[in-house]
Amino acid sequence: MRYEGKSVLVTGAATGIGRAAALAFSREGAKVMIGDYNDDAEDVVAEIKGEGGTAAFLHCDVSKGDEVEALVAAAVKNHGGLDAAFNNAGIFPPEKMFAEFDEETFDRTIAINLKGVFLCMKAELTVMAKQGKGAILNTSSVGGVIANPGMTPYIASKHGVIGLTRTAAIEYVKQGVRVNALCPGFVRTPMTEPWFHREGFLEAFLPTSPIGRPAAPEEMAGTVLHLCSDEASFTNGAVIIVDGGQTAI
Ligand SMILES: NC(=O)c1ccc[n+]([C@@H]2O[C@H](COP(=O)([O-])OP(=O)(O)OC[C@H]3O[C@@H](n4cnc5c(N)ncnc54)[C@H](O)[C@@H]3O)[C@@H](O)[C@H]2O)c1
Repeated sequence: MRYEGKSVLVTGAATGIGRAAALAFSREGAKVMIGDYNDDAEDVVAEIKGEGGTAAFLHCDVSKGDEVEALVAAAVKNHGGLDAAFNNAGIFPPEKMFAEFDEETFDRTIAINLKGVFLCMKAELTVMAKQGKGAILNTSSVGGVIANPGMTPYIASKHGVIGLTRTAAIEYVKQGVRVNALCPGFVRTPMTEPWFHREGFLEAFLPTSPIGRPAAPEEMAGTVLHLCSDEASFTNGAVIIVDGGQTAI
């Protein structure tokens, strides 16, 4: 019960990696505040409560500053402070060649994947610096350290998340706040589910993956919980790649 009595915020926890992390935090004793624009996150709260845990949900679009501020305030008010935040909400736009992307898709991807993380961090850092303690983990991607064809706005947004992470990490660590980035490889979630049904995709992808399979969302949770806990007290400004070896080739 590493998180007994701790207040933890998770964005993008209606499904996928965020959902798995929210459940794992709760199973270690955390009081979990979920922010998502998908109200199915209520089901995750019900699941946590069904297991005897403590959780709450606030509808929140992370690209909107007022909604993010309300989310962070709700975590502090309901759960007595903010010990850790996992800024994980994100979208993946349909793939196209660079020059085929329209301005609207680019803006929307940046607004959610990059500005959304900025807005969450801004509100969380304010609270955590005042407390003199806290841990923030931002979901980037292997697409934050390498490029894949067809993903221009996504790759730009995820590289940007690493920039936000490193800047806050060097600015706030003396105030007791650590900030790190998680770079998942290929994880089977609603975001990537269409790839499983695309002809030839797995046959082309899997030989490029040393581990030879996608991850389950639960396989990210161990790293998430470690990085947000005091076990990781010297880990700051780190970019942790959890990809089965994909970027080691
Ligand atoms: N699945 C992968 O292979 C993979 C790989 C690398 C990084 N990631 C990243 O992991 C994170 C989680 O993705 P996932 O794979 O679990 O996908 P997912 O689609 O299951 O989860 C994304 C979650 O974010 C929420 N969300 C999206 N836009 C939002 C907004 N504007 N405001 C609030 N919530 C919003 C969704 O409702 C959903 O709950 C994303 O940031 C994604 O880019 C995923």
